[in-house]
Amino acid sequence: LWQEFLEMITTIQCHSHPHFKPDLPSPQKGPRPPYNNHTICSHLEPTPDEALEDRALLDAIAWPKPPAPTSLNQTSDPVHSLFTILPSKGGRERRVGDQLEALVQMQDFQGRPKHYGGDFLVARLHSPELGAGVAGTVVDHLNGSYSALFPLLWEGPAQVTITMVHSSEAVAVLQRLREQRSDRFFFRSLFRSGKLSETSVCNMCLPHNRPQEPLCNYTDLHTGEPWYCLKPKRLSCDTRINHQRGGNTNDLVTHKEALLFQSLVNIKVVVHASGPDRIDVLPKKIDDQELENRSIEPGPVQYNPSGYYYKGSWRSFDGTPVRQFDAKSITQCLTGKVINMYGDSTMRQWFEYLRAFVPEFNLRSTSWTGPLMAVDSQHNILLKYRCHNVPISVPTIIASELRYVANELDRLPGGPNTVVALSLWAHFTPFPVEVYIRRMRHIRRALERLLARGPGTLVVIRSANLRALDKELSLNHSDWFSLQLDRVLRNMFMGLAVVFVDAWEMTLAHHSPHNLHPPPDVIKNMINLVLTQVCPAKKS
Ligand SMILES: *[C@@H]1O[C@H](CO)[C@@H](O)[C@H](O)[C@H]1NC(C)=O
Ligand SMILES: *[C@@H]1O[C@H](CO)[C@@H](O)[C@H](O)[C@H]1NC(C)=O
Ligand SMILES: *[C@@H]1O[C@H](CO)[C@@H](O)[C@H](O)[C@H]1NC(C)=O
Ligand SMILES: *[C@@H]1O[C@H](CO)[C@@H](O)[C@H](O)[C@H]1NC(C)=O
Ligand SMILES: *[C@@H]1O[C@H](CO)[C@@H](O)[C@H](O)[C@H]1NC(C)=O
Ligand SMILES: *[C@@H]1O[C@H](CO)[C@@H](O)[C@H](O)[C@H]1NC(C)=O
Repeated sequence: LWQEFLEMITTIQCHSHPHFKPDLPSPQKGPRPPYNNHTICSHLEPTPDEALEDRALLDAIAWPKPPAPTSLNQTSDPVHSLFTILPSKGGRERRVGDQLEALVQMQDFQGRPKHYGGDFLVARLHSPELGAGVAGTVVDHLNGSYSALFPLLWEGPAQVTITMVHSSEAVAVLQRLREQRSDRFFFRSLFRSGKLSETSVCNMCLPHNRPQEPLCNYTDLHTGEPWYCLKPKRLSCDTRINHQRGGNTNDLVTHKEALLFQSLVNIKVVVHASGPDRIDVLPKKIDDQELENRSIEPGPVQYNPSGYYYKGSWRSFDGTPVRQFDAKSITQCLTGKVINMYGDSTMRQWFEYLRAFVPEFNLRSTSWTGPLMAVDSQHNILLKYRCHNVPISVPTIIASELRYVANELDRLPGGPNTVVALSLWAHFTPFPVEVYIRRMRHIRRALERLLARGPGTLVVIRSANLRALDKELSLNHSDWFSLQLDRVLRNMFMGLAVVFVDAWEMTLAHHSPHNLHPPPDVIKNMINLVLTQVCPAKKS
């Protein structure tokens, strides 16, 4: 496997850039894996238009790979690496509205500078005193150095934190796992009829190594989303009772590769500053001449954070000042509304937050997979949550409750009193990106139909967020996978009239430790953002 890995990383060209300018697709190139031979999903050939979009999306998330095989000694070591806050242009004072740049030089475990890019770094500018924070943009110079760029948005202290999530060598392992080991995650179903019961293995695309074995085909007739189980020996396919997390394979990485995933060594470790790591920001000077001079300074790249925290509250850059909602104004805002929430447990957090303000109607569901419902008949409020379909990875869910979000959306009439909120990402990280693209494509089509059918429907899409990682989690749920899916999501929904909640930046900019389920403080800010869209401030 190590040999395979070395071959893989040496054969792939290294000029691709991790920052996402979608290239124009080239029509002559065909689709890429996993439209390949080793799965029974090879029949899912995309149409030519879909293949073009796939290609553009995959190109947009291309990530540079290490050029040569290495030993751990030669891989990126956050402890040896350093960053420097660059002096401002002309040594001027730093003011609100300026840009701050920190230059990161990555080094290996023997303290030698790295000469190629691909490390996964995240950057944050923050001030605990002011409850302020903003996500930085990291630019990979592909020579071992990186620039972290931040807008200066508040007056007062601001501190830079740079974190190496994974080395470029570790990312190459993740990339291999994603493309070649989508079998590393599998599922089971219980089949039962009378006194007979059997459990069988299920997945989106079962490996074709046992071609003689009969399958149960649960491919969805509306969307074409594939799902298969090995046919139980004595029971028929229509006796499927539930869907369960099945476990995972263990021979994923070699001993050498495992060294690239060590907590406190090379997973989410902070890179230190060679000098000061904080600056003091002065207020904006109201001086036309100066402002004019500043505005012509060429910035190195375009970056647009979607917002930032100040005094603990998220301020969005989309032009709408975020309103703060309490119990009374939440009820007021939701009066007459139906809020339909779909997705993984990161969307269920929204339901749980809101239901604290709405009496719950227990829909005989004891499981967190739902469906969940809360009703306030006095104010005519209906909150609903339903988890997304396979590959949802849960202890168990009743087979009849497995629904594709696109199909659920097709059942909504829509209209000005309907809110739809979606968050699907966490369960897709072990799978090839194409699986996610296909799912999002079905959802996008359903949203287009919904918006056409029910004008005024408010659609909110919540992005992926950062989470706590160790070795085991990294191999199937790394933030690197999430980041890639998140880029795909943004690209795919860019042209649609939807509200985007940037959970990625809201968790990166926040002071709390990364967590799959962000803390109540972050959820509250997300909900305020959503409710601001549901109930915009009245213009006086
Ligand atoms: C896939 O199958 C086709 C026909 O069986 C074969 O020509 C091709 O080389 C295979 N591709 C891969 C990547 O194995
Ligand atoms: C890595 O570095 C250590 C300490 O400098 C050295 O003992 C070891 O031989 C090196 N290993 C490799 C594979 O270069
Ligand atoms: C790496 O590239 C950047 C951008 O081109 C450049 O500013 C920097 O000097 C380079 N660093 C090294 C060590 O070559
Ligand atoms: C499963 O069913 C779908 C839809 O009927 C069909 O297109 C697909 O070819 C089937 N898969 C297999 C392996 O037969
Ligand atoms: C991720 O994969 C590893 C390696 O196969 C496994 O040990 C771990 O339990 C998996 N984590 C989850 C959450 O499934
Ligand atoms: C702005 O630029 C002009 C022309 O370069 C210069 O004369 C002037 O002093 C600058 N003003 C400030 C406030 O820096």
